[in-house]
Amino acid sequence: MADIAAASSQDQTYKRIAVKPIAGALGAEIEGVDIAGGVDPEVFDEIYRAWLENNVIFFRGQSISPAQQIEFAKRFGDIHVHLFNKAMDDHPEITEILKTPEMKSNAGGRWHSDQMYTPVPAKATMLYSREIPEGRGDTMFSNMYLAYETLSEGMKASLQGLKAIHNGDSRNHPSGMTRMERVKAGSIHMPQIDPGKAQTISSHPVVRTHPETGRKLLYIGGHTERFEGWAEEESKPLLDYLKTHATRPEFVCRFHWTENAMAMWDNRCCQHFAINDYDGYQRRMHKIMVKGDAPF
Ligand SMILES: [Fe+2]
Repeated sequence: MADIAAASSQDQTYKRIAVKPIAGALGAEIEGVDIAGGVDPEVFDEIYRAWLENNVIFFRGQSISPAQQIEFAKRFGDIHVHLFNKAMDDHPEITEILKTPEMKSNAGGRWHSDQMYTPVPAKATMLYSREIPEGRGDTMFSNMYLAYETLSEGMKASLQGLKAIHNGDSRNHPSGMTRMERVKAGSIHMPQIDPGKAQTISSHPVVRTHPETGRKLLYIGGHTERFEGWAEEESKPLLDYLKTHATRPEFVCRFHWTENAMAMWDNRCCQHFAINDYDGYQRRMHKIMVKGDAPF
């Protein structure tokens, strides 16, 4: 397998896999891995390192069962279950994301980080493509390390120590509706569950330190409503600026899906955006999330 890395133009420190960046900011396709065939510990260590270094990694041509997807996800950590979206009946670890040709709205169609509104947000999300409308339905990702590092020293100093409130179910959604209102309006298609007593509004540092890389990053997203101790009206101008800044084209990559492909992203240092450009076509994905830790 050593010739895989030698034959490519990227990081030669990978011996068992090839890591091919898809953009300058973040994102790399991994080659030389057959998930169904088994991933030995040395290969997994390289995959994990590539994941930390590139924020999001992609695999193509992986024909795997739900059980194999769950098994691979568990290599990254324990499974995080979505607070609102109902899992598959036969696989409680997996949420099926389906948009049929008749549906208009999609899931994840704005910049966000998964489960940011929970006290312990998901560390990773693994999305596997089962049906893809050819040439459509791409996903974009943005690098929140770069978003932080490119701020002025004055802005960095102002944000240091600030916390932000993230809400999993509010009218600040682009639709202007809560989840139940969207269900009634027919714009949420995924079966919903009652989160019960689970905390769905949480406060986290705006400048977060990644627990594994030690790097600082800007930790805001679509669920962010305001800064802690600030009114929404006071927060909005600065939040709008930071949200726009964080998704500048040079901080972004765009993954062009094919069937049986997998994306694995680090929610701690990425935002993502599911592009809704495939009305009249069907797209079906299997999503698994991995538990994280409390941001600091
Ligand atoms: Fe998402």
